[in-house]
Amino acid sequence: MTKFVGVLTSGGDNPGLNAAIRGLGKACLGSYGMQVIGFRDGFRGLMENRSVTLDSRMLSGILTQGGTILGTSRDKPHKMNVGGKEMDMTQAIVENYQRNNLDVLVCIGGGGTQKNAFRLMQQGLNIITLPKTIDNDVACTDVTFGFDTALDIATEAIDRLHSTAQSHHRIILVEIMGHRTGWLALGAGLAGGADVILIPEIPYNIRSVTESIRSRSKSGKSFSIIAVAEGALSKTQQVQMDELENKLKAAKDKDEKKQVKKLIEEMIGLRSSHTLKLANKLEELTSIESRVTILGHVQRGGTPSSFDRILATKIGTACADYIDRGEFGIMLASKGEGVEAVPLAEVAGKLKTVPLDHPWLISARMVGTCMGD
Ligand code: F6P
Repeated sequence: MTKFVGVLTSGGDNPGLNAAIRGLGKACLGSYGMQVIGFRDGFRGLMENRSVTLDSRMLSGILTQGGTILGTSRDKPHKMNVGGKEMDMTQAIVENYQRNNLDVLVCIGGGGTQKNAFRLMQQGLNIITLPKTIDNDVACTDVTFGFDTALDIATEAIDRLHSTAQSHHRIILVEIMGHRTGWLALGAGLAGGADVILIPEIPYNIRSVTESIRSRSKSGKSFSIIAVAEGALSKTQQVQMDELENKLKAAKDKDEKKQVKKLIEEMIGLRSSHTLKLANKLEELTSIESRVTILGHVQRGGTPSSFDRILATKIGTACADYIDRGEFGIMLASKGEGVEAVPLAEVAGKLKTVPLDHPWLISARMVGTCMGD
């Protein structure tokens, strides 16, 4: 019996999504004679039954393309905006899964997608997830595809900022994505030789940052590069964040929750960058002219690195084997050279932060990088 495989991409786009769709599609079609149906724009497309047959023509020529040929969205099955109202559309999704005679739904996404996919699994759907995100913050996998490409882009930006910072004797703060983790800022800061790296896992003290810049000046280095993770917080901001999180837990209704969530997003720099304020403060404290570069979505766009193409292809093709064996309710994690299945229940709702004893962190400190503490 021919198996019917549904696939969607959900959450922020990132390099390697098309490589994963291609790997999955080609292996399903070529090695197992399955049929593959792509749903547009994440869970919304499945809810609205907007689909496309992924035949060999559709899967051809997309390996090197950035973004996702399927489109994506941050829509959640249980909280979808329909006609201006937030509604639980889980049942519509379950019905469309059945209407399309799907044997499995493959959800390619980051941390949020793992949670949403797990919810659908609890509704009785056969689910496999493939972890992607430039933030590298999905639990239970060594790495996510997209991270390597973004790391290269952010590192190149730091390289380029060095010469201009040096020529003008300036402090340049470069704001790097990563949501609530510091993998990208730490990796790019380490690879690009940033003088200060600020990450959410280590709340910073502005005095320590100022001291490190002053001591560079004293030793004749009149410029500094600061890699700031978008989610980095000062010690004071961290206290405010803890309070907001407690408020969120205690929130009684949807509106209150929404309000607090918005404030949290502001704090982690998703809605307003606080790197500008930090730059002004540092200029005031050090009397060194400061500038800010916010890398933003440049880090997510464009063609994937060879590492991400290989990783996404490896996970995508491995997925076809798991479908053939009928193993569901899992995320396919990258472990060493291979791919391993992790129960979705173990992944959903977890965040992979940078451990304080991570080798990158230890090395950064050993080459004299100020981590803000
Ligand atoms: O999760 C990927 C990511 O790029 C984060 O680094 C960033 O915080 C967020 O998405 C930005 O989201 P959006 O594209 O919805 O503005």
